Amino acid sequence: MTQQIQSASDEAVRERVESLLAEMTVAEKAGQLTQYFYMGFMRDQAKDGAPSQPEMVEAAMTRSGVGSLLFLMDPAEINRLQRMTIEGNRLGIPALVGFDVIHGFRTVLPVPLAMAASWDPAVIEQGQAVAGREARAVGIHWAFSPMVDIARDPRWGRIIEGAGEDPYLGGKVAAAQVRGFQGSDLSSPDNVIAGPKHFAGYGAALGGRDYDESNISDAELWNIYFPPFKAAIDAGAANIMSAYMDLNGVPAAGNRWLLTEVLRDSLGFEGFVVSDAQAVHDLFTHHFAADLADAGARALNAGNDMEMTFVDPAFDHLVAAVEDGRVSIETLDTSVRRVLTAKVRLGLFENPYVDEARAAEVLVDPAHRQVAKTAAQRSAVLLRNEGELLPLAADELSSVAVIGPLADSPRDTLGPWIFDYDLAETVTILDGIKARAGEGIDVQYAPGIRPAFRTFPSMFDAWPNNTPEDPADFDDDAELAKAVELARASDVAVLVAGEWQNMIGEGASRSSLELPGRQLELIQAVVATGTPVVLLVMNGRPLDLRWPAENVPAILDIWYPGSQGGKAVAALLFGDDSPGGKLPFTWPRTGGQVPIIYNYTRSHKPNDQWRRDWDEESTPLYAFGHGLSYGSFSYSAPTLSSESIAVGETLTVSVTVTNEGSRAADEVVQLYIHQRYGTSSRPVRELKGFQRVPVEAGASATVEFTLGPDELSYWSAVTRDWVQDATTFDLGVGGDSTVALSTQFTVTA
Ligand code: BGC
Repeated sequence: MTQQIQSASDEAVRERVESLLAEMTVAEKAGQLTQYFYMGFMRDQAKDGAPSQPEMVEAAMTRSGVGSLLFLMDPAEINRLQRMTIEGNRLGIPALVGFDVIHGFRTVLPVPLAMAASWDPAVIEQGQAVAGREARAVGIHWAFSPMVDIARDPRWGRIIEGAGEDPYLGGKVAAAQVRGFQGSDLSSPDNVIAGPKHFAGYGAALGGRDYDESNISDAELWNIYFPPFKAAIDAGAANIMSAYMDLNGVPAAGNRWLLTEVLRDSLGFEGFVVSDAQAVHDLFTHHFAADLADAGARALNAGNDMEMTFVDPAFDHLVAAVEDGRVSIETLDTSVRRVLTAKVRLGLFENPYVDEARAAEVLVDPAHRQVAKTAAQRSAVLLRNEGELLPLAADELSSVAVIGPLADSPRDTLGPWIFDYDLAETVTILDGIKARAGEGIDVQYAPGIRPAFRTFPSMFDAWPNNTPEDPADFDDDAELAKAVELARASDVAVLVAGEWQNMIGEGASRSSLELPGRQLELIQAVVATGTPVVLLVMNGRPLDLRWPAENVPAILDIWYPGSQGGKAVAALLFGDDSPGGKLPFTWPRTGGQVPIIYNYTRSHKPNDQWRRDWDEESTPLYAFGHGLSYGSFSYSAPTLSSESIAVGETLTVSVTVTNEGSRAADEVVQLYIHQRYGTSSRPVRELKGFQRVPVEAGASATVEFTLGPDELSYWSAVTRDWVQDATTFDLGVGGDSTVALSTQFTVTA
């Protein structure tokens, strides 16, 4: 029955799309494939009598229609432009409104890398459901999110937008985000289209420099970079964004192998592909296309359905390209069908406008703030806790020193890639600690140092509050001395250090991983007082923490924790809840170790009796999957349903985890495998299962995993296809990626 309703509605969508298509001119079709930024603030910036950017977009609306608009967030403005769009084109086709809903809209969630560190698909799904609900309420139909690019080089600032280094974790996080955004029905007033991006390989930019070329072997593409996209597609993602850069010598936006053979034929994607901003124009810049017309034709022929642009779309030349035969009408129609299908599925023809009063209510929903707080709590990672300094015992403390400029910076608490935030409601770390400590504990604050600044400006500087303020009359030596004195006079010092939010994200690659500014000096001076120090790290990439890792007893990675960050962090500091997040990447000791990953392939001298680097340990500072809690976990040996299975069969692994500690806590139980030999060489270990489980003090939980063809197959550069070998596997289950792989099973032919 359900099946029939489903196919009937699919049929209705198809009929609607075909009847529109039959009415459309070639120019109108090209219009539907164009997505414009609408930069309202540039209206006054027109030069020499030429129309301004928004005027150009408005002219396009009445010329042949526009497919989509982006970078709008005010519901009244969206309604106004939607009306202009609908009334501007003969067939009344509404615009898709897209926006970078990356980690929340008005309610700001922890940054995506932090969400991944929760290893909690349920909380990730809830978070993006809140973000999608707020976005749709103001009239946004489509989130340019999740970013599912695997990132193994933290110099690349966009590592913060993804789920880290691992394809398995990345796949689970990607799918949860798509489910959160899209729900089960795109026409619901609470759901938006998800647009996983940037297909593909953007995270492997040469030297970690944003937008630079990526050179990735086919085996790495299939085994590492594509799987999160596959997971997102399987979860129903209705859009994909292609990438900016050159992948193995061909720009992604004009790469037919990538956008058609891989994306459609192998990964089964049926939705529409949008380019990244100006990326179709860039085909020309890349020295790939001869001119804009060539760029447009080649992008469309490659499988890039829609062009994202500020002005002067390359896709305006599609009309000529159809006339001169460079683009077939069938190719054009296929792309237009995909875009119209999205509009019909969203119910835009029936409900193109939003209720502004409802939008105002949705944006202040207290339930959304609660989701953000829970997410911030669950994403924090306890990196070190010597002598169980944490949790702080509120009844034994009379004073707390809160130190560091990031501790009291609402804008930095939120992190990058947000636009509709409310600084007034943002709970900073200082606010949160003050509120939680209550009357009995004296909480005093000292910045200690001035903020650190980027050497070169950021592409987001046009937005308000992007750069930290340099405080007037700031006496550096006196302020440092004040902070040190405050720490000396307090029972405990909570020091917040990391990167300012404008130092990470798009266009924020970095050549070093050091703590910027005088932060290390501040940490060292505060530690020297002898007062116990808790270091809270505010970051979106691993930083050089070699000194703190040896000298600061407690280190909690709080990332950029979002609107409710301060509340969440205070609850963790005082033990109302236990940290339980785990690192979604390998934490290097120093920038020179980059890239360093846990699932590398063994080679010459695998036992490392000679250190690879003569000036540094070969190991990371913290392993992938590392994270402590206020519990203390022991693991039983894994039991297998069978020690031998045939290719194609499945076995189950079960393990009992016991909390030997005196506090309830979550553990992320992680399963790793290693294939001993096969058609190709295989990594030393690979994550193939995880589950975050709450365990009361003294209690146990049993966790079960399944291993079958999905987990045991891989893409081999020898057969140039997926294989599952008959071979022996080692397996281990534990709390991080250093667990011993002491159990074996075999797979027979
Ligand atoms: C980014 C995309 C983003 C787009 C629209 C680009 O510069 O690479 O991730 O969605 O801008 O803002």
